[in-house]
Amino acid sequence: MDPKQKFEELRNNAKKDLENFSDCLQELILLRNKYLAKKGLIPLMMNNIKDVEDKKAFGELYNSCKNEVEALFNAKISELEAKKLNEELKKEKIDITLPGNNYDRGVANPFYKVINEIEDIFLGMGYSIETGPEVDFDKYVFELLNIPHDHPARDMQDTLYIDNNLLLRSHTSSVQAHVMEKAKGKPIKIICPGKTYRRDNDDMTHSHQFAQVEGLVIDKNINLGNLKATLELFAQKMFSKDTKVRFRSSFFPFTEPSVEVDISCFNCKGKGCNICKGTGWIEILGAGMVHPNVLRMSGYDPEVYSGFAFGIGIERVTMLKYGILDIRKFYQSDLKFIAEFKKVVEE
Ligand code: DAH
Repeated sequence: MDPKQKFEELRNNAKKDLENFSDCLQELILLRNKYLAKKGLIPLMMNNIKDVEDKKAFGELYNSCKNEVEALFNAKISELEAKKLNEELKKEKIDITLPGNNYDRGVANPFYKVINEIEDIFLGMGYSIETGPEVDFDKYVFELLNIPHDHPARDMQDTLYIDNNLLLRSHTSSVQAHVMEKAKGKPIKIICPGKTYRRDNDDMTHSHQFAQVEGLVIDKNINLGNLKATLELFAQKMFSKDTKVRFRSSFFPFTEPSVEVDISCFNCKGKGCNICKGTGWIEILGAGMVHPNVLRMSGYDPEVYSGFAFGIGIERVTMLKYGILDIRKFYQSDLKFIAEFKKVVEE
């Protein structure tokens, strides 16, 4: 047969096949292979070239047939692929009228909210924030704070020991000794919030684990008036503008003089109610002027430097501020308890 005619026939068959073709992409590829694969109908035509006289003309016919059929198939494949993609896109269309997933917004635990507030207040007064180890040596928890071995003051903090020399800190005052050691005789103005541990009754208002914020200021000419003004400002920012502060004398081995600090009751404004147990005052922290022995042991000359220190119970402040009656609630991971503070905390 005349090669020209043969190529024409192949071309027409391919066109016909394509016209009758369903829309299945896999079948289309099989069909393409029938004409164009290595052993497909068109490449097989090349076997005849040896019998042809005008090889150049035959080659031209071959190429134009092959190119044309290839183009037909490619166009059809692209058309099918585009169609398929469009169908998928249509199926995946997002229905913006469907109700969305609701994620419940969490709320900060009031305990951490209060720590943040305390930090903000003291940062505003130029303090920096320190941390210290929760497991610490006897030296830092007691010795350097003027509580020698066998001192009766240790009994009040009879505590959780890892070994003879290492214990869970019973107060954040231990950080005072670390900070003084690092400061090497330079002025200090820090607070340190953190967890503390001591043997205690576990009841509504006591827990063997609780948290404190320690404060320490050391410089020249620091006096009790500075301490009072500082704590008054703290109490006013934390509770209310008209809060007053009262000092009662007390004893801590690391301060002299030592004071218990009361604030005027924010609930009854001093008249007497069940929060202040009828006294008009609420005790919130311990404080005092840094004991000369403490200064000396950490390399400060008490003739030149003086300082004040205080320790605030974080749970106590939080319980007062939010009317929480049971300290154990802070440690029970009870989401219902935390959810109660959603409104209060977001104010
Ligand atoms: N460390 C004391 C306690 O745990 C609290 C305290 C009192 C800290 C007086 C101080 C301070 O820094 O000066 O009860």
